[in-house]
Amino acid sequence: MGLQGAFASISTLVSVNAAFGGKPQDYAYRVGVGQSATQGAAAVAGVRATASAPRQTTNEKLGFIGGTGNMGSAIIRGLIETQAVSPSDILSSGRDREKLDRLSAETGCTVAADLATLCAEASTLFLCVKPAQCEAVLDSVAAITGGALETKRVISVAAGVPIATLERYLGRQRPEARHARVLRCMPNILVRFGHGVTGITPGNFASAEDVAWTERLLGHLGVATVVDEHLLDAVVAAAGSAPAFVFMFMEALTDAAVREGLPRQVARTFVVQTMSGAAQMAAREAKTHLGELRNRVESPGGTTIAGSCVLEESGFRRAVMAAAAAAAARSRSLGTHYT
Ligand SMILES: NC(=O)c1ccc[n+]([C@@H]2O[C@H](COP(=O)([O-])OP(=O)(O)OC[C@H]3O[C@@H](n4cnc5c(N)ncnc54)[C@H](OP(=O)(O)O)[C@@H]3O)[C@@H](O)[C@H]2O)c1
Repeated sequence: MGLQGAFASISTLVSVNAAFGGKPQDYAYRVGVGQSATQGAAAVAGVRATASAPRQTTNEKLGFIGGTGNMGSAIIRGLIETQAVSPSDILSSGRDREKLDRLSAETGCTVAADLATLCAEASTLFLCVKPAQCEAVLDSVAAITGGALETKRVISVAAGVPIATLERYLGRQRPEARHARVLRCMPNILVRFGHGVTGITPGNFASAEDVAWTERLLGHLGVATVVDEHLLDAVVAAAGSAPAFVFMFMEALTDAAVREGLPRQVARTFVVQTMSGAAQMAAREAKTHLGELRNRVESPGGTTIAGSCVLEESGFRRAVMAAAAAAAARSRSLGTHYT
């Protein structure tokens, strides 16, 4: 499946929250193309399933390695704010004690004294470090646990580090740890507010229960869908990197509005509200082609079509597609690097 195909398939599964700032589990509903999200997912080659997001009832402890980073703290804060997990069930370890203490003060999560404490207490380890640090961290995890990882899930969010590599890192000194229950995820930063997208690929030794548990947990943070590993590069393009592209568009539109005379804060509010409203309209009218939604705003001879023509002449769509393709290509090349 090409990148566009992957975009199209994943875009049929949209979880919408009625209001930003609301509790997703209270308001969440799903939009499919004349079918449930699960049916929609099943109909798509390569995308195997999706989960609804009932309130999480796990009493398990979640351990975050790299919990103070952008992605680690987004997941922690998202899980706490959506009430998916109690702060007392979240532990974080890392190198910088000051940052860990700040995270703990802000969220109520616990600072693990060290990696050994984290590994001893948590039944799920979230690996939220940069790809280049995965090898050293997983080596330490295998050494600390003596390779006895059968009672734990290891969930990596590292871009471009393949499952086989994660399993190999774990098993290098401790061959038995090669059989750890690894899952690889590609979330985007919007998990922070329960509006994220996460692609999930189970490793070779993760059970069906591990997959369902992970989908349920991350489903609290937006859409969480199981995809084949080769599609995670497309998830990077469509979701992982996409918030940055959207922010760039919003920034440009805000500048343009300021140029036309609106005060910056007003311009920003209008742009943010318009983006949010447009996203919700596209989600609610999921059966309607996006081009048709656009046409509803473009009156013949009017203002919008004048602007749309400039976007076309400037190669807007071509630029967006090239940017997404570049993100996916970079993810693939990281994968090759870490193979
Ligand atoms: N940012 C995104 O939008 C995004 C999206 C999808 C996936 N990801 C993935 O998420 C991962 C983290 O990215 P990020 O943007 O969150 O990076 P980041 O902000 O730099 O965070 C990295 C975290 O790892 C910790 N860390 C580094 N080396 C460590 C070690 N040896 N032991 C324990 N902790 C260590 C850092 O702690 P110190 O500060 O104390 O060193 C920090 O908490 C990456 O693999 C990335 O591919 C990110």
